[in-house]
Amino acid sequence: MIDTIDQHLQKYGLRHFAKVDDYTDWLESKLSADQIQEMHDSVFRLAREPNPENIRAIYDLIAGAQYGPRVLSHHTDVIKQSGLHVDTLLRGRREVLDVGCATGYLTTWYAISSPHGHVTGVDFSSKAIDFARAQAQRLGIANVQFHSLDITQAVPDGRFDAIVGAQCFEFLPDLDEVAGELVAHLKKDGILVSVTHSPHDLDIAESFQTAGLRVSPIRYFDARDLGETTSDQRQLLLLVSDN
Ligand SMILES: C[S@@+](CC[C@H](N)C(=O)[O-])C[C@H]1O[C@@H](n2cnc3c(N)ncnc32)[C@H](O)[C@@H]1O
Repeated sequence: MIDTIDQHLQKYGLRHFAKVDDYTDWLESKLSADQIQEMHDSVFRLAREPNPENIRAIYDLIAGAQYGPRVLSHHTDVIKQSGLHVDTLLRGRREVLDVGCATGYLTTWYAISSPHGHVTGVDFSSKAIDFARAQAQRLGIANVQFHSLDITQAVPDGRFDAIVGAQCFEFLPDLDEVAGELVAHLKKDGILVSVTHSPHDLDIAESFQTAGLRVSPIRYFDARDLGETTSDQRQLLLLVSDN
């Protein structure tokens, strides 16, 4: 019997909370006041200065069992809806690259959903990748592999039927250059899927369009983190290769 996405995400410690208060009570029962402060400090540091160092620091911090489930459970619904929507676009596509995969909770979901495909997840947090590898092995998922790499420096070898960047491309300092490299690794008729929100959507679409992809009509999805609709509605950009 295959897990539902809820069951799958639970295996990575993600819990669903219908109300902010429930999440806060749970957080306070799991972490000390100092630990919650450390978590908030790194989130605020990132918000103030979203440079690669601060991004990597927070994803290293939340790669561990201590903080990961606590931070991610704030966003369980966005992650779930994103995974379900992207997954429908990946069906039947054999070689998939997931850029900025963090600890691989969705990368492995795509691999389970497409047992005849093969999914490669990359992230520049080496701690996230160590966790992703160990967890995929624990779950017995063989059609997935993970690489620790900075996508602004290298793209994994090979050509892909689909490349996914869920809430990742907006963090990259020079997306035009990365977009060119990623498009060079897309097969003919390959697709690039970006999950993002305003105001990043137009910049991301423009970079990939300049790199040679055609933008399909943007799809929107609603997610209710902690029971509240996110103010910045999530968007799924589908860009298609005309190579
Ligand atoms: C907001 S998380 C998104 C995780 C996951 N894709 C999701 O949808 O939940 C962004 C991820 O992108 C990764 N990332 C940011 N810049 C990167 C880069 N230059 N190269 C590789 N990964 C990067 C971060 O380490 C982080 O794990």
